[in-house]
Amino acid sequence: MLCALIMAGGQGTRFWPLSTEEKPKQFLNLIGSESMIQMTVNRIKPIIPVERVFICTCRKYVSLVKEQLPDIPYENIIVEPESRNTAPCITLSTLVIARRYKDADILVLPSDHLIKEEDKFRNIILEADKFVETNENAIITLGMKPNRAETGYGYIKYKKGIASENKNDIFKVEKFVEKPDKEKAEKYLADGSYLWNGGIFLWKSSGIINEIKKYCFDMYEALHGILDVADENMQSLIDENYKNTKAISIDYAVLEKSDNIYVIPSEIGWDDIGTWKAVERYKEKDINNNIIDGNAKVIESYSNIALNSGKRIVMIGIDDVMTLETEDSIYIVNKDYLENLRDYRNKI
Ligand code: GDD
Ligand code: MG
Repeated sequence: MLCALIMAGGQGTRFWPLSTEEKPKQFLNLIGSESMIQMTVNRIKPIIPVERVFICTCRKYVSLVKEQLPDIPYENIIVEPESRNTAPCITLSTLVIARRYKDADILVLPSDHLIKEEDKFRNIILEADKFVETNENAIITLGMKPNRAETGYGYIKYKKGIASENKNDIFKVEKFVEKPDKEKAEKYLADGSYLWNGGIFLWKSSGIINEIKKYCFDMYEALHGILDVADENMQSLIDENYKNTKAISIDYAVLEKSDNIYVIPSEIGWDDIGTWKAVERYKEKDINNNIIDGNAKVIESYSNIALNSGKRIVMIGIDDVMTLETEDSIYIVNKDYLENLRDYRNKI
């Protein structure tokens, strides 16, 4: 039974001041007319009905999830008392899903990615799901062809020769390196046999639980009570024990250590909408390369970004500037400063 787990507890601080602690980026319409999390759910609906879509988020975002995703049953919202990174989130959610569907296959998705070729993506997922049926402990990752020495991603080394028995395009992974330093990232890029980890995983619940038990038993121990506690006591068990989990990502906790990892090279127009640059890449532009969101007017102005303007912003003879209206301020930022914008937070 294929289920989806959408991880939606990240803070998205790089998108400050648009993304805030009260409303982080997965809940914002960064690219189109839907929020990133709405896009994530809609992308998988054709292959996984909403009854089997689970959202894991921390308590403070539950009302946003309910508001933005009214079709998701409330009991499918898995509530973390606090964000502790993706390994505790996955352990908790796997146990909650396994309570409901005894031997679920779980597709794990971030809530802030863009995938342009959605049909291809769904076909890959269905293929991966077939694979785990016969390879019970397999951890399947989707690998993306790198085009720069990015240090914010995981790198996957695989050998083209070692294809699976029944499929030509699912490969055994030799090595997984999470967020290497610049020097290593450059080496991996030049090497040609590494892919980026897309942060999308598919596994059987029993398979990932086995790996979690093997590599972070304490995490399993803190939460395994979920499997047989009474319904009405489950949340208090989570609230009591979640703080006893190590705050670490699944990539460091399991993927770097496991030898059951497989990769499907995936050309699906994937991007992690992690920085302003990524938003700029995908938003529609006018003929003068301006991105105009809301009520802005640009005259003889080039390559600007006008976001979220309630009041009419008028630019005349302005180039390479972002304007952004928030509840209490209007920001006017030279585009060269965008990537480090959050560093100025304390000065304001
Ligand atoms: N529920 C919950 N709780 N969700 C979380 C938490 C948490 O504590 N922490 C992060 N998330 C969510 C984020 O909202 C995001 O959707 C997803 O989990 C991944 O977390 P990120 O913090 O964005 O991870 P990353 O981008 O640094 O790295 C991961 O993704 C890269 C590709 O985008 C890794 O898997 C890398 O290896 C990978 O290359
Ligand atoms: Mg990310």
